[in-house]
Amino acid sequence: MSDPRDPVPSPDQPLLNRRGASALRSQRWFAPDDLRSFGHRSRLRQMGYSAADAEGKPVIAILNTWSDLAQCHGHFRERAEDVKRGVWQAGGFPVEIPVLSLSEMFVKPTAMFYRNLLALEVEEVLRSHPIDGAVLMGGCDKTVPALLMGAISADLPSIFLPAGPMLAGRYRTTRLGSGTDVWKYWADRQAGVLDDCAMRQIEEGIARSPGTCMTMGTASTMAAVAEALGMAPSGSATIPAVHSAHARMASLCGRRVVDMVWEGATPSTILSAASFINAVVADMALCGSTNAIIHLIAMARRAGAALALDDFDRISREVPVIANLRPAGEYLMEDFHDAGGVPALLARLRDHLALDCRTVDGGTLGDAIAGAEVLSDEVIRPIDRPLAHAGGTFVLRGNLAPDGCVIKPTAAEPRLLSHTGPAIVFASYADMKARIDREDQGITADHVIVLQHAGPIGAPGMPEWGMLPIPKPLLRQGVRDMVRISDARMSGTSYGTCVLHVAPEAAVGGTLALVRDGDLIELDVAARTLHVHVSDEELAARRAEWSPPPARHERGYGRLFLDQTTQAPDGCDFRFMERGAPTPEPDIF
Ligand code: FES
Repeated sequence: MSDPRDPVPSPDQPLLNRRGASALRSQRWFAPDDLRSFGHRSRLRQMGYSAADAEGKPVIAILNTWSDLAQCHGHFRERAEDVKRGVWQAGGFPVEIPVLSLSEMFVKPTAMFYRNLLALEVEEVLRSHPIDGAVLMGGCDKTVPALLMGAISADLPSIFLPAGPMLAGRYRTTRLGSGTDVWKYWADRQAGVLDDCAMRQIEEGIARSPGTCMTMGTASTMAAVAEALGMAPSGSATIPAVHSAHARMASLCGRRVVDMVWEGATPSTILSAASFINAVVADMALCGSTNAIIHLIAMARRAGAALALDDFDRISREVPVIANLRPAGEYLMEDFHDAGGVPALLARLRDHLALDCRTVDGGTLGDAIAGAEVLSDEVIRPIDRPLAHAGGTFVLRGNLAPDGCVIKPTAAEPRLLSHTGPAIVFASYADMKARIDREDQGITADHVIVLQHAGPIGAPGMPEWGMLPIPKPLLRQGVRDMVRISDARMSGTSYGTCVLHVAPEAAVGGTLALVRDGDLIELDVAARTLHVHVSDEELAARRAEWSPPPARHERGYGRLFLDQTTQAPDGCDFRFMERGAPTPEPDIF
Protein backbone atom coordinates (compact mmCIF):
# COMPACT_ATOMS: atom_id res chain seq x y z
CA MET A 1 0.00 0.00 0.00
CA SER A 2 1.30 3.48 -0.75
CA ASP A 3 2.19 6.09 1.83
CA PRO A 4 -1.18 7.41 3.08
CA ARG A 5 0.24 10.93 2.81
CA ASP A 6 0.52 10.54 -0.96
CA PRO A 7 -2.27 12.37 -2.73
CA VAL A 8 -4.85 10.09 -4.31
CA PRO A 9 -5.45 11.02 -7.97
CA SER A 10 -8.82 12.56 -8.59
CA PRO A 11 -11.01 11.32 -11.46
CA ASP A 12 -10.16 14.50 -13.36
CA GLN A 13 -6.42 13.99 -13.30
CA PRO A 14 -4.60 12.30 -16.18
CA LEU A 15 -4.59 8.59 -15.47
CA LEU A 16 -0.86 8.23 -15.34
CA ASN A 17 2.25 10.23 -14.77
CA ARG A 18 5.71 9.58 -13.48
CA ARG A 19 5.14 10.48 -9.84
CA GLY A 20 5.36 6.94 -8.54
CA ALA A 21 2.93 4.46 -7.04
CA SER A 22 0.54 7.11 -5.81
CA ALA A 23 -0.15 8.03 -9.41
CA LEU A 24 -1.23 4.55 -10.36
CA ARG A 25 -4.81 4.47 -11.43
CA SER A 26 -5.41 1.34 -9.33
CA GLN A 27 -4.50 3.33 -6.23
CA ARG A 28 -7.87 5.04 -6.44
CA TRP A 29 -9.28 1.65 -5.42
CA PHE A 30 -6.63 0.61 -2.91
CA ALA A 31 -4.89 3.60 -1.33
CA PRO A 32 -7.48 5.77 0.45
CA ASP A 33 -8.08 5.26 4.15
CA ASP A 34 -11.84 4.85 3.77
CA LEU A 35 -14.46 2.15 4.03
CA ARG A 36 -14.64 1.43 0.29
CA SER A 37 -10.88 0.92 -0.06
CA PHE A 38 -10.90 -1.21 3.07
CA GLY A 39 -13.36 -3.42 1.23
CA HIS A 40 -11.12 -3.58 -1.87
CA ARG A 41 -8.04 -4.47 0.15
CA SER A 42 -9.84 -7.06 2.25
CA ARG A 43 -11.06 -8.77 -0.92
CA LEU A 44 -7.48 -9.02 -2.18
CA ARG A 45 -6.71 -10.77 1.11
CA GLN A 46 -9.69 -13.05 0.42
CA MET A 47 -7.95 -14.12 -2.79
CA GLY A 48 -4.75 -14.83 -0.89
CA TYR A 49 -2.81 -11.71 -1.83
CA SER A 50 -0.88 -9.81 0.82
CA ALA A 51 -0.07 -6.12 0.61
CA ALA A 52 3.39 -7.08 -0.65
CA ASP A 53 1.84 -8.96 -3.59
CA ALA A 54 -0.38 -6.28 -4.94
CA GLU A 55 -0.50 -2.88 -3.42
CA GLY A 56 1.50 -0.01 -4.82
CA LYS A 57 2.25 -2.12 -7.90
CA PRO A 58 0.91 -1.64 -11.41
CA VAL A 59 -2.10 -3.90 -11.81
CA ILE A 60 -1.81 -5.59 -15.19
CA ALA A 61 -4.89 -7.08 -16.78
CA ILE A 62 -4.21 -10.05 -19.00
CA LEU A 63 -7.20 -10.04 -21.31
CA ASN A 64 -7.48 -13.62 -22.50
CA THR A 65 -9.66 -14.63 -25.46
CA TRP A 66 -9.20 -18.34 -24.68
CA SER A 67 -12.18 -20.71 -24.71
CA ASP A 68 -12.80 -24.36 -25.48
CA LEU A 69 -14.23 -23.18 -28.79
CA ALA A 70 -11.40 -20.81 -29.70
CA GLN A 71 -9.36 -23.37 -31.62
CA CYS A 72 -6.59 -20.95 -32.56
CA HIS A 73 -6.04 -19.92 -28.92
CA GLY A 74 -5.63 -23.41 -27.45
CA HIS A 75 -2.26 -22.43 -25.95
CA PHE A 76 -3.51 -19.25 -24.27
CA ARG A 77 -4.08 -20.70 -20.79
CA GLU A 78 -0.43 -21.69 -20.68
CA ARG A 79 0.67 -18.39 -22.25
CA ALA A 80 -1.26 -16.38 -19.66
CA GLU A 81 0.99 -18.02 -17.04
CA ASP A 82 4.03 -16.95 -19.07
CA VAL A 83 2.73 -13.38 -19.12
CA LYS A 84 2.13 -13.48 -15.36
CA ARG A 85 5.72 -14.60 -14.84
CA GLY A 86 6.91 -11.52 -16.71
CA VAL A 87 4.60 -9.18 -14.81
CA TRP A 88 5.81 -10.51 -11.42
CA GLN A 89 9.44 -10.22 -12.55
CA ALA A 90 8.98 -6.54 -13.38
CA GLY A 91 7.22 -5.71 -10.11
CA GLY A 92 3.65 -5.70 -11.33
CA PHE A 93 0.54 -7.49 -10.12
CA PRO A 94 -1.02 -9.67 -12.86
CA VAL A 95 -4.73 -10.40 -13.04
CA GLU A 96 -6.13 -12.60 -15.79
CA ILE A 97 -9.56 -11.59 -17.09
CA PRO A 98 -11.43 -13.66 -19.67
CA VAL A 99 -13.09 -11.72 -22.46
CA LEU A 100 -15.31 -12.82 -25.33
CA SER A 101 -13.69 -15.51 -27.45
CA LEU A 102 -14.37 -15.09 -31.13
CA SER A 103 -13.53 -18.16 -33.16
CA GLU A 104 -13.51 -17.31 -36.83
CA MET A 105 -14.65 -20.86 -37.52
CA PHE A 106 -17.38 -21.49 -34.98
CA VAL A 107 -19.05 -18.12 -34.34
CA LYS A 108 -22.11 -17.51 -36.54
CA PRO A 109 -23.39 -15.71 -38.48
CA THR A 110 -19.80 -14.39 -38.56
CA ALA A 111 -17.24 -13.35 -35.96
CA MET A 112 -17.34 -9.88 -37.53
CA PHE A 113 -20.87 -9.48 -36.16
CA TYR A 114 -19.32 -9.56 -32.67
CA ARG A 115 -16.07 -7.63 -33.26
CA ASN A 116 -17.62 -4.45 -31.88
CA LEU A 117 -19.07 -6.32 -28.90
CA LEU A 118 -15.61 -7.54 -27.89
CA ALA A 119 -14.20 -4.03 -28.45
CA LEU A 120 -16.91 -2.62 -26.24
CA GLU A 121 -16.26 -5.25 -23.58
CA VAL A 122 -12.49 -4.64 -23.59
CA GLU A 123 -12.92 -0.91 -23.11
CA GLU A 124 -15.41 -1.30 -20.27
CA VAL A 125 -13.48 -4.11 -18.53
CA LEU A 126 -10.37 -1.91 -18.49
CA ARG A 127 -12.26 1.17 -17.33
CA SER A 128 -14.37 -0.42 -14.62
CA HIS A 129 -11.61 -2.34 -12.80
CA PRO A 130 -8.53 -1.26 -10.83
CA ILE A 131 -6.24 -1.73 -13.81
CA ASP A 132 -3.12 0.21 -14.80
CA GLY A 133 -2.08 -1.60 -17.96
CA ALA A 134 -3.07 -4.53 -20.16
CA VAL A 135 -1.71 -7.41 -22.18
CA LEU A 136 -4.09 -8.16 -25.01
CA MET A 137 -4.05 -11.85 -25.93
CA GLY A 138 -5.58 -12.38 -29.35
CA GLY A 139 -4.93 -13.72 -32.79
CA CYS A 140 -7.91 -15.38 -34.46
CA ASP A 141 -9.07 -12.81 -37.00
CA LYS A 142 -11.51 -10.41 -35.31
CA THR A 143 -9.96 -10.68 -31.86
CA VAL A 144 -7.01 -8.55 -33.02
CA PRO A 145 -8.91 -5.43 -34.13
CA ALA A 146 -11.45 -5.83 -31.33
CA LEU A 147 -8.80 -5.92 -28.59
CA LEU A 148 -6.94 -3.01 -30.13
CA MET A 149 -10.08 -0.94 -30.70
CA GLY A 150 -11.11 -1.39 -27.07
CA ALA A 151 -7.63 -0.62 -25.76
CA ILE A 152 -7.35 2.48 -27.94
CA SER A 153 -10.63 3.79 -26.54
CA ALA A 154 -9.68 2.95 -22.94
CA ASP A 155 -6.24 4.47 -23.50
CA LEU A 156 -4.42 2.57 -20.78
CA PRO A 157 -0.88 1.28 -21.51
CA SER A 158 -1.46 -1.88 -23.54
CA ILE A 159 0.64 -4.35 -25.44
CA PHE A 160 -0.68 -6.85 -27.97
CA LEU A 161 0.43 -10.48 -27.68
CA PRO A 162 -0.19 -12.27 -31.00
CA ALA A 163 -1.29 -15.91 -30.82
CA GLY A 164 1.22 -16.83 -33.52
CA PRO A 165 0.60 -19.01 -36.54
CA MET A 166 -0.08 -22.75 -36.35
CA LEU A 167 2.32 -25.30 -37.87
CA ALA A 168 2.27 -25.74 -41.65
CA GLY A 169 -0.35 -28.25 -42.75
CA ARG A 170 0.44 -31.61 -44.38
CA TYR A 171 -1.17 -33.84 -46.97
CA ARG A 172 1.15 -36.70 -47.84
CA THR A 173 4.29 -34.84 -48.95
CA THR A 174 2.49 -31.59 -49.72
CA ARG A 175 2.51 -28.59 -47.37
CA LEU A 176 -0.96 -27.22 -46.87
CA GLY A 177 -1.97 -23.63 -46.17
CA SER A 178 -5.06 -22.74 -44.11
CA GLY A 179 -8.03 -21.70 -46.17
CA THR A 180 -6.12 -21.26 -49.40
CA ASP A 181 -5.64 -24.99 -49.95
CA VAL A 182 -9.10 -25.78 -48.59
CA TRP A 183 -10.69 -23.74 -51.35
CA LYS A 184 -8.43 -25.31 -53.96
CA TYR A 185 -8.98 -28.93 -52.96
CA TRP A 186 -12.71 -28.36 -52.33
CA ALA A 187 -13.07 -27.08 -55.90
CA ASP A 188 -11.25 -30.22 -57.11
CA ARG A 189 -13.65 -32.38 -55.10
CA GLN A 190 -16.66 -30.55 -56.53
CA ALA A 191 -15.21 -31.09 -59.98
CA GLY A 192 -14.93 -34.84 -59.19
CA VAL A 193 -11.13 -35.08 -59.39
CA LEU A 194 -10.43 -35.72 -55.66
CA ASP A 195 -11.84 -38.69 -53.76
CA ASP A 196 -13.29 -38.80 -50.22
CA CYS A 197 -10.27 -40.58 -48.77
CA ALA A 198 -7.91 -37.83 -49.93
CA MET A 199 -10.30 -35.19 -48.63
CA ARG A 200 -10.31 -36.87 -45.20
CA GLN A 201 -6.51 -36.88 -45.09
CA ILE A 202 -6.53 -33.18 -45.88
CA GLU A 203 -9.11 -32.59 -43.13
CA GLU A 204 -6.81 -34.29 -40.62
CA GLY A 205 -3.62 -32.59 -41.74
CA ILE A 206 -4.51 -29.01 -42.49
CA ALA A 207 -4.66 -27.72 -38.90
CA ARG A 208 -1.98 -29.51 -36.87
CA SER A 209 -1.44 -27.32 -33.79
CA PRO A 210 -2.79 -24.38 -31.83
CA GLY A 211 -2.20 -21.04 -33.51
CA THR A 212 -3.76 -18.94 -36.20
CA CYS A 213 -4.12 -19.69 -39.91
CA MET A 214 -0.57 -19.89 -41.25
CA THR A 215 -1.21 -18.24 -44.61
CA MET A 216 -1.31 -14.47 -45.03
CA GLY A 217 -4.98 -14.45 -44.07
CA THR A 218 -6.65 -11.95 -41.81
CA ALA A 219 -5.03 -13.21 -38.60
CA SER A 220 -1.50 -13.07 -39.99
CA THR A 221 -2.20 -9.73 -41.62
CA MET A 222 -3.60 -8.18 -38.46
CA ALA A 223 -0.75 -9.51 -36.31
CA ALA A 224 1.77 -7.98 -38.71
CA VAL A 225 -0.26 -4.78 -38.85
CA ALA A 226 -0.27 -4.62 -35.02
CA GLU A 227 3.51 -4.87 -35.07
CA ALA A 228 3.87 -2.21 -37.79
CA LEU A 229 1.51 0.05 -35.85
CA GLY A 230 3.81 -0.24 -32.85
CA MET A 231 1.27 -2.03 -30.64
CA ALA A 232 2.95 -5.48 -30.60
CA PRO A 233 6.59 -6.16 -29.68
CA SER A 234 9.04 -6.13 -32.53
CA GLY A 235 9.37 -9.59 -34.07
CA SER A 236 6.34 -11.01 -32.25
CA ALA A 237 3.79 -11.36 -35.07
CA THR A 238 5.29 -14.38 -36.81
CA ILE A 239 6.54 -16.55 -33.93
CA PRO A 240 4.81 -19.92 -34.36
CA ALA A 241 2.34 -20.58 -31.53
CA VAL A 242 4.10 -23.77 -30.39
CA HIS A 243 7.66 -22.38 -30.62
CA SER A 244 9.40 -21.94 -27.26
CA ALA A 245 10.15 -18.37 -28.36
CA HIS A 246 6.42 -17.72 -28.12
CA ALA A 247 6.44 -18.39 -24.36
CA ARG A 248 9.47 -16.14 -24.02
CA MET A 249 7.74 -13.40 -25.99
CA ALA A 250 4.70 -13.74 -23.71
CA SER A 251 6.78 -13.15 -20.57
CA LEU A 252 8.47 -10.23 -22.29
CA CYS A 253 5.02 -8.70 -22.88
CA GLY A 254 4.37 -9.03 -19.14
CA ARG A 255 7.64 -7.34 -18.22
CA ARG A 256 7.35 -4.63 -20.81
CA VAL A 257 3.82 -3.53 -19.98
CA VAL A 258 4.82 -2.85 -16.37
CA ASP A 259 7.47 -0.44 -17.64
CA MET A 260 4.93 1.08 -20.01
CA VAL A 261 2.71 1.90 -17.05
CA TRP A 262 5.52 3.79 -15.33
CA GLU A 263 6.36 5.52 -18.61
CA GLY A 264 2.74 6.51 -19.23
CA ALA A 265 2.99 4.82 -22.67
CA THR A 266 -0.69 4.78 -23.58
CA PRO A 267 -2.00 4.01 -27.09
CA SER A 268 -2.53 7.73 -27.63
CA THR A 269 1.21 8.33 -27.10
CA ILE A 270 2.10 5.57 -29.57
CA LEU A 271 -0.44 5.83 -32.36
CA SER A 272 -0.56 8.66 -34.88
CA ALA A 273 -1.77 9.15 -38.43
CA ALA A 274 1.76 8.21 -39.55
CA SER A 275 1.73 4.92 -37.65
CA PHE A 276 -1.51 3.95 -39.41
CA ILE A 277 0.12 4.74 -42.75
CA ASN A 278 3.05 2.51 -41.72
CA ALA A 279 0.54 -0.26 -41.06
CA VAL A 280 -1.01 0.19 -44.52
CA VAL A 281 2.46 0.03 -46.10
CA ALA A 282 3.09 -3.28 -44.33
CA ASP A 283 -0.34 -4.56 -45.35
CA MET A 284 0.29 -3.79 -49.02
CA ALA A 285 3.78 -5.30 -49.07
CA LEU A 286 2.32 -8.45 -47.54
CA CYS A 287 -0.62 -8.49 -49.96
CA GLY A 288 -2.61 -8.76 -46.75
CA SER A 289 -6.24 -9.58 -46.23
CA THR A 290 -8.79 -7.09 -47.52
CA ASN A 291 -10.35 -7.29 -44.05
CA ALA A 292 -7.43 -5.20 -42.76
CA ILE A 293 -8.87 -2.19 -44.57
CA ILE A 294 -12.05 -2.22 -42.51
CA HIS A 295 -10.24 -2.92 -39.25
CA LEU A 296 -7.54 -0.28 -39.74
CA ILE A 297 -10.10 2.39 -40.57
CA ALA A 298 -12.10 1.47 -37.46
CA MET A 299 -8.97 1.60 -35.27
CA ALA A 300 -7.80 4.88 -36.79
CA ARG A 301 -11.15 6.51 -36.17
CA ARG A 302 -11.02 5.48 -32.54
CA ALA A 303 -7.50 6.91 -32.30
CA GLY A 304 -8.59 10.16 -33.97
CA ALA A 305 -6.25 9.57 -36.93
CA ALA A 306 -7.34 10.34 -40.48
CA LEU A 307 -7.31 7.20 -42.64
CA ALA A 308 -9.52 6.76 -45.69
CA LEU A 309 -10.20 4.09 -48.28
CA ASP A 310 -8.25 6.05 -50.88
CA ASP A 311 -5.10 5.92 -48.72
CA PHE A 312 -5.05 2.17 -49.33
CA ASP A 313 -5.29 2.58 -53.10
CA ARG A 314 -2.58 5.28 -53.14
CA ILE A 315 -0.17 3.21 -51.05
CA SER A 316 -1.04 0.10 -53.04
CA ARG A 317 0.22 1.89 -56.18
CA GLU A 318 3.49 2.87 -54.46
CA VAL A 319 4.40 -0.23 -52.45
CA PRO A 320 5.32 -3.50 -54.18
CA VAL A 321 4.22 -6.87 -52.84
CA ILE A 322 7.46 -8.37 -51.51
CA ALA A 323 6.16 -11.08 -49.17
CA ASN A 324 5.99 -14.34 -51.10
CA LEU A 325 3.26 -15.86 -48.96
CA ARG A 326 0.06 -17.74 -49.76
CA PRO A 327 -2.50 -17.02 -51.06
CA ALA A 328 -0.68 -14.48 -53.30
CA GLY A 329 2.63 -16.35 -53.21
CA GLU A 330 4.17 -19.63 -52.22
CA TYR A 331 5.37 -19.78 -48.62
CA LEU A 332 3.79 -20.06 -45.16
CA MET A 333 4.13 -18.11 -41.92
CA GLU A 334 6.88 -20.20 -40.36
CA ASP A 335 8.96 -19.56 -43.50
CA PHE A 336 8.26 -15.86 -43.07
CA HIS A 337 9.38 -16.05 -39.45
CA ASP A 338 12.57 -17.89 -40.38
CA ALA A 339 13.23 -15.29 -43.09
CA GLY A 340 13.26 -12.48 -40.52
CA GLY A 341 9.57 -11.76 -40.03
CA VAL A 342 8.00 -8.33 -39.90
CA PRO A 343 11.17 -6.41 -38.84
CA ALA A 344 13.00 -7.74 -41.91
CA LEU A 345 10.07 -6.91 -44.18
CA LEU A 346 9.84 -3.38 -42.76
CA ALA A 347 13.59 -2.91 -43.12
CA ARG A 348 13.16 -3.45 -46.87
CA LEU A 349 10.35 -0.88 -46.90
CA ARG A 350 12.12 1.78 -44.85
CA ASP A 351 11.85 4.41 -47.63
CA HIS A 352 8.05 4.18 -47.36
CA LEU A 353 7.87 4.33 -43.56
CA ALA A 354 7.75 7.04 -40.91
CA LEU A 355 10.57 5.65 -38.78
CA ASP A 356 10.09 8.10 -35.92
CA CYS A 357 6.75 6.54 -34.86
CA ARG A 358 6.76 5.18 -31.32
CA THR A 359 6.32 1.50 -30.45
CA VAL A 360 5.54 -0.57 -27.37
CA ASP A 361 9.21 -1.59 -27.35
CA GLY A 362 9.93 1.84 -25.91
CA GLY A 363 11.71 3.37 -28.88
CA THR A 364 10.89 4.23 -32.46
CA LEU A 365 9.99 2.00 -35.39
CA GLY A 366 13.43 2.87 -36.74
CA ASP A 367 14.99 1.44 -33.57
CA ALA A 368 12.79 -1.67 -33.86
CA ILE A 369 14.03 -2.54 -37.34
CA ALA A 370 17.65 -1.43 -36.96
CA GLY A 371 19.79 -4.43 -37.73
CA ALA A 372 16.90 -6.52 -39.04
CA GLU A 373 18.13 -8.86 -41.70
CA VAL A 374 16.32 -10.71 -44.48
CA LEU A 375 17.46 -14.34 -44.37
CA SER A 376 15.66 -15.51 -47.50
CA ASP A 377 15.23 -13.37 -50.61
CA GLU A 378 12.73 -15.92 -51.86
CA VAL A 379 10.34 -15.41 -48.96
CA ILE A 380 10.89 -11.67 -48.54
CA ARG A 381 11.72 -10.52 -52.02
CA PRO A 382 14.06 -7.58 -52.75
CA ILE A 383 12.25 -4.37 -53.71
CA ASP A 384 13.55 -4.67 -57.29
CA ARG A 385 12.32 -8.28 -57.62
CA PRO A 386 8.86 -8.12 -56.07
CA LEU A 387 6.03 -10.62 -56.35
CA ALA A 388 3.98 -7.77 -57.87
CA HIS A 389 4.99 -4.18 -58.55
CA ALA A 390 1.71 -2.97 -57.07
CA GLY A 391 -1.61 -4.37 -56.18
CA GLY A 392 -1.91 -5.35 -52.56
CA THR A 393 -5.46 -4.01 -52.75
CA PHE A 394 -7.07 -1.62 -55.22
CA VAL A 395 -10.08 0.60 -54.56
CA LEU A 396 -12.68 0.83 -57.33
CA ARG A 397 -15.53 3.27 -57.82
CA GLY A 398 -18.35 3.69 -60.32
CA ASN A 399 -22.11 3.78 -60.45
CA LEU A 400 -22.21 0.29 -58.90
CA ALA A 401 -20.09 1.37 -55.91
CA PRO A 402 -20.22 5.16 -55.53
CA ASP A 403 -18.62 4.98 -52.05
CA GLY A 404 -16.05 2.43 -53.13
CA CYS A 405 -15.29 -1.27 -53.16
CA VAL A 406 -12.08 -3.27 -53.16
CA ILE A 407 -10.33 -6.00 -55.11
CA LYS A 408 -7.10 -7.89 -54.56
CA PRO A 409 -5.75 -8.05 -58.12
CA THR A 410 -2.88 -10.39 -57.28
CA ALA A 411 -5.48 -12.99 -56.26
CA ALA A 412 -7.33 -12.76 -59.59
CA GLU A 413 -6.81 -14.37 -62.98
CA PRO A 414 -5.21 -11.52 -64.99
CA ARG A 415 -7.54 -12.02 -67.98
CA LEU A 416 -10.52 -11.09 -65.78
CA LEU A 417 -9.14 -7.78 -64.54
CA SER A 418 -10.79 -6.15 -67.54
CA HIS A 419 -14.08 -7.87 -68.18
CA THR A 420 -17.62 -7.07 -69.25
CA GLY A 421 -20.35 -9.63 -68.81
CA PRO A 422 -24.03 -10.15 -68.04
CA ALA A 423 -25.05 -10.24 -64.39
CA ILE A 424 -26.53 -13.30 -62.71
CA VAL A 425 -28.02 -11.94 -59.52
CA PHE A 426 -28.69 -13.68 -56.21
CA ALA A 427 -30.74 -11.81 -53.61
CA SER A 428 -29.23 -13.62 -50.63
CA TYR A 429 -26.76 -16.35 -49.76
CA ALA A 430 -29.62 -18.84 -49.39
CA ASP A 431 -30.88 -17.93 -52.86
CA MET A 432 -27.38 -18.42 -54.25
CA LYS A 433 -26.96 -21.80 -52.55
CA ALA A 434 -30.29 -22.97 -53.91
CA ARG A 435 -29.71 -22.00 -57.55
CA ILE A 436 -26.05 -21.54 -58.42
CA ASP A 437 -25.25 -25.16 -59.28
CA ARG A 438 -28.42 -25.72 -61.34
CA GLU A 439 -27.83 -26.43 -65.01
CA ASP A 440 -31.06 -24.56 -65.92
CA GLN A 441 -29.62 -21.25 -64.74
CA GLY A 442 -27.55 -21.11 -67.91
CA ILE A 443 -24.55 -19.53 -66.20
CA THR A 444 -21.48 -19.22 -68.42
CA ALA A 445 -17.88 -18.37 -67.58
CA ASP A 446 -18.51 -14.88 -68.95
CA HIS A 447 -21.26 -14.12 -66.45
CA VAL A 448 -20.64 -11.79 -63.55
CA ILE A 449 -21.99 -13.35 -60.34
CA VAL A 450 -23.66 -10.78 -58.08
CA LEU A 451 -24.64 -11.43 -54.46
CA GLN A 452 -26.86 -8.88 -52.71
CA HIS A 453 -27.66 -8.39 -49.02
CA ALA A 454 -24.39 -9.77 -47.68
CA GLY A 455 -23.09 -6.49 -46.23
CA PRO A 456 -22.79 -5.09 -42.70
CA ILE A 457 -26.55 -4.56 -42.33
CA GLY A 458 -27.86 -6.99 -44.93
CA ALA A 459 -26.36 -10.28 -43.74
CA PRO A 460 -25.90 -8.87 -41.04
CA GLY A 461 -22.27 -8.65 -40.00
CA MET A 462 -20.74 -8.72 -43.49
CA PRO A 463 -19.69 -12.40 -43.54
CA GLU A 464 -16.79 -13.73 -45.56
CA TRP A 465 -19.01 -14.88 -48.40
CA GLY A 466 -17.28 -12.79 -51.06
CA MET A 467 -15.42 -15.65 -52.75
CA LEU A 468 -18.71 -16.70 -54.31
CA PRO A 469 -18.63 -20.31 -55.52
CA ILE A 470 -18.02 -21.15 -59.14
CA PRO A 471 -21.09 -23.10 -60.39
CA LYS A 472 -20.46 -26.85 -60.39
CA PRO A 473 -21.21 -27.30 -64.12
CA LEU A 474 -18.46 -24.77 -64.87
CA LEU A 475 -16.05 -26.37 -62.39
CA ARG A 476 -16.46 -29.61 -64.30
CA GLN A 477 -15.48 -27.74 -67.47
CA GLY A 478 -12.28 -26.59 -65.75
CA VAL A 479 -13.38 -23.02 -64.92
CA ARG A 480 -11.68 -21.87 -61.69
CA ASP A 481 -12.26 -18.10 -61.67
CA MET A 482 -15.04 -15.69 -62.65
CA VAL A 483 -15.84 -12.05 -61.84
CA ARG A 484 -17.82 -12.04 -58.61
CA ILE A 485 -19.28 -8.97 -56.91
CA SER A 486 -20.82 -8.53 -53.47
CA ASP A 487 -21.13 -6.29 -50.45
CA ALA A 488 -19.60 -9.10 -48.37
CA ARG A 489 -16.04 -9.54 -47.15
CA MET A 490 -13.68 -12.35 -48.16
CA SER A 491 -11.35 -14.46 -46.07
CA GLY A 492 -7.77 -13.32 -46.35
CA THR A 493 -6.92 -16.86 -47.40
CA SER A 494 -9.28 -16.70 -50.38
CA TYR A 495 -8.54 -15.82 -53.98
CA GLY A 496 -10.25 -15.07 -57.26
CA THR A 497 -11.60 -12.05 -59.13
CA CYS A 498 -13.80 -11.02 -56.25
CA VAL A 499 -15.01 -7.44 -55.91
CA LEU A 500 -15.82 -6.90 -52.24
CA HIS A 501 -17.18 -4.38 -49.72
CA VAL A 502 -19.43 -2.69 -52.32
CA ALA A 503 -20.73 0.50 -50.71
CA PRO A 504 -23.37 1.54 -50.08
CA GLU A 505 -24.50 -2.04 -49.57
CA ALA A 506 -27.71 -3.45 -51.04
CA ALA A 507 -29.61 -3.48 -47.73
CA VAL A 508 -29.38 0.31 -47.40
CA GLY A 509 -30.38 0.94 -51.01
CA GLY A 510 -27.02 0.93 -52.78
CA THR A 511 -27.00 0.44 -56.55
CA LEU A 512 -26.10 -3.19 -55.91
CA ALA A 513 -29.72 -3.70 -54.81
CA LEU A 514 -30.93 -2.51 -58.23
CA VAL A 515 -28.90 -4.84 -60.45
CA ARG A 516 -30.96 -7.39 -62.39
CA ASP A 517 -30.14 -10.53 -64.35
CA GLY A 518 -28.68 -9.69 -67.73
CA ASP A 519 -27.49 -6.17 -66.88
CA LEU A 520 -24.03 -5.68 -68.35
CA ILE A 521 -21.38 -5.09 -65.73
CA GLU A 522 -17.95 -3.72 -66.61
CA LEU A 523 -14.94 -4.25 -64.37
CA ASP A 524 -11.80 -2.32 -65.30
CA VAL A 525 -9.25 -2.74 -62.55
CA ALA A 526 -6.54 -0.66 -64.24
CA ALA A 527 -8.97 2.25 -64.47
CA ARG A 528 -10.27 1.49 -60.95
CA THR A 529 -13.88 1.38 -62.15
CA LEU A 530 -16.94 -0.82 -61.65
CA HIS A 531 -19.93 0.11 -63.78
CA VAL A 532 -23.33 -1.32 -64.49
CA HIS A 533 -24.49 -0.35 -67.97
CA VAL A 534 -27.96 0.79 -66.98
CA SER A 535 -29.08 4.38 -67.59
CA ASP A 536 -29.47 6.79 -64.71
CA GLU A 537 -33.18 7.07 -65.56
CA GLU A 538 -33.68 3.32 -65.38
CA LEU A 539 -31.76 3.10 -62.10
CA ALA A 540 -33.93 5.92 -60.69
CA ALA A 541 -37.07 4.04 -61.73
CA ARG A 542 -35.81 0.84 -60.09
CA ARG A 543 -34.88 2.78 -56.95
CA ALA A 544 -38.41 4.19 -56.72
CA GLU A 545 -39.74 0.62 -56.61
CA TRP A 546 -37.13 -0.53 -54.06
CA SER A 547 -37.96 -1.00 -50.41
CA PRO A 548 -35.56 -2.07 -47.64
CA PRO A 549 -35.60 -5.71 -46.60
CA PRO A 550 -37.26 -6.43 -43.24
CA ALA A 551 -34.92 -6.01 -40.27
CA ARG A 552 -33.64 -9.39 -39.18
CA HIS A 553 -33.30 -8.38 -35.54
CA GLU A 554 -35.96 -6.56 -33.55
CA ARG A 555 -34.23 -6.70 -30.18
CA GLY A 556 -30.99 -7.34 -28.32
CA TYR A 557 -27.46 -7.05 -29.65
CA GLY A 558 -28.63 -7.61 -33.22
CA ARG A 559 -30.87 -4.53 -32.99
CA LEU A 560 -27.98 -2.44 -31.67
CA PHE A 561 -25.78 -3.71 -34.50
CA LEU A 562 -28.36 -2.85 -37.19
CA ASP A 563 -29.00 0.60 -35.76
CA GLN A 564 -25.41 1.67 -35.20
CA THR A 565 -23.02 -0.06 -37.60
CA THR A 566 -21.34 2.08 -40.24
CA GLN A 567 -20.62 1.01 -43.81
CA ALA A 568 -17.39 -0.73 -44.88
CA PRO A 569 -15.48 2.41 -45.97
CA ASP A 570 -16.11 3.81 -42.49
CA GLY A 571 -14.84 0.71 -40.66
CA CYS A 572 -18.15 -0.95 -39.62
CA ASP A 573 -17.73 0.34 -36.07
CA PHE A 574 -20.66 1.46 -33.95
CA ARG A 575 -21.23 5.16 -34.57
CA PHE A 576 -21.21 5.94 -30.87
CA MET A 577 -17.86 4.19 -30.36
CA GLU A 578 -15.85 6.44 -32.65
CA ARG A 579 -13.71 9.07 -31.00
CA GLY A 580 -15.66 11.69 -29.07
CA ALA A 581 -15.46 13.54 -25.79
CA PRO A 582 -13.39 11.58 -23.24
CA THR A 583 -15.35 9.06 -21.20
CA PRO A 584 -15.08 9.90 -17.48
CA GLU A 585 -13.32 7.60 -15.06
CA PRO A 586 -15.76 5.73 -12.80
CA ASP A 587 -16.60 7.28 -9.45
CA ILE A 588 -15.47 5.19 -6.52
CA PHE A 589 -17.83 5.80 -3.65
FE1 FES B 1 -8.48 -18.61 -36.36
FE2 FES B 1 -8.04 -18.58 -39.10
S1 FES B 1 -9.59 -19.61 -37.96
S2 FES B 1 -7.06 -17.49 -37.54
